[in-house]
Amino acid sequence: MKTIIEPFRIKSVEPLRMTSVSERELYLKKANYNLFALKSDDVLIDLLTDSGTSAMSTKQWAGIQMGDESYAGSPSFYRFEHALKELAPFKHIIPTHQGRAAEKILFSILSDNKHDQIIPNNTHFDTTRANIESTGNQALDLVQQQGLDPQLDLPFKGDIDLIRLRDLLEAKGEHVPIVMLTITNNSGGGQPVSMENIRQTKALCQEFDKPLFLDACRFAENAYFIKLREVGYQDKTPKEIVQEIFSYADGMIMSAKKDALVNMGGWLALNDDDLAMKARNILILTEGFPTYGGLSGRDLEAMAVGLEEIVEEDYLNYRITSTAYFGKALDKLGIPIVKPVGGHAVYIDARTMLPHIDPHNYPGQALAIEMYRLGGIRSCEIGTVMFGQQPDGSEKLATVDLVRMAMPRRVYTQSHIDYCIECLAEIHANKNTLRGVDISWQPPMLRHFTCHFTPK
Ligand code: F0G
Repeated sequence: MKTIIEPFRIKSVEPLRMTSVSERELYLKKANYNLFALKSDDVLIDLLTDSGTSAMSTKQWAGIQMGDESYAGSPSFYRFEHALKELAPFKHIIPTHQGRAAEKILFSILSDNKHDQIIPNNTHFDTTRANIESTGNQALDLVQQQGLDPQLDLPFKGDIDLIRLRDLLEAKGEHVPIVMLTITNNSGGGQPVSMENIRQTKALCQEFDKPLFLDACRFAENAYFIKLREVGYQDKTPKEIVQEIFSYADGMIMSAKKDALVNMGGWLALNDDDLAMKARNILILTEGFPTYGGLSGRDLEAMAVGLEEIVEEDYLNYRITSTAYFGKALDKLGIPIVKPVGGHAVYIDARTMLPHIDPHNYPGQALAIEMYRLGGIRSCEIGTVMFGQQPDGSEKLATVDLVRMAMPRRVYTQSHIDYCIECLAEIHANKNTLRGVDISWQPPMLRHFTCHFTPK
């Protein structure tokens, strides 16, 4: 059969609260047109993030019941550790409450009060960047040039630029404590990194004696793209590909809220004994004892099961196909999207879609507001609202204004997505009626979470 179905059936349901356009207009006004300020009960289809929004399986819920809440040495920790080592056999596995806690610990121990470090990556996620910068060091994005063009349809737009990486290591190698790769490249549209690029990055790291760390939030999606797109991997299982990916790394940071299929969790894993000792010391100060690190025993159980389920081929086939289904339908309607469709989200290029809206009036925000007004769909602007605010208070246009529609794992069915497509078709047909917005109030930093907008 050609139809790819959701490889699960639904046993427990969460009703959606239907709302009308006029109700939503009121909610928007109350929220000052900032979608983060909406009550999620007032959202019909929530595509704000794929982080922590997965539906857990019956086996994961059974694991929750098995959680052992011992302060130290819980069997739940050892089950989690075993499940992770099956995929990523790092020597030290240090649980944290989410990804950014692992980032905070890693970059504090790497910086060791130095302020002249440079940490290269294909593209740092915003919390990763902020955690590096908060230590007074520099986060450097070196994604290859093609990765920056939303319209180019290439298989591995998350690849790091190896020439620029070599130049950096030759010119300033003594300032580079680690090299990073984010798989998949969230800030670049959820684009995967090829195994060839991971291998060559590792070779460069070996030449310059640098550890390679992965920001591996969406490692299973990245592995499935390798299976689909890279020569030599068609006959390998996702698990084998994941194992090969991690065999090149010296460490990883992880938000388990993505590809470990849980609602909260994360970890830092690494091979270096000295760094691990320092990391555990901070962990005890800020997260908890090393066998729970900010999590309950039941969370560790759910992660252990999630790590088995995430590499199942039927799941990954459904996951990648259903995201592509959404993106391809928008492309067919003539809506400009980031190509090819990434693993966890569809990104609309709002500045290209709405050329009549001055970029200083945030076309991405205007589109996100209209999607909520017309269809009750919550998405997220990733453009000048998110990145434009400079430390001195001035504003600089972002290179693109995107709207991200992130797909929670195992949550929505095809008819939910057909509804979203219908809503976007209507917006596209009437797009010339859309107006931009002004920012009427903003905090000094990270304004996108709380700023107020007024429609023009
Ligand atoms: N790295 C990447 C690539 C991420 O996408 C995220 C989170 C993190 C690190 C931080 O993990 O949230 O557990 O602390 N991304 C979410 C998103 C928030 O919506 O893309 P966290």
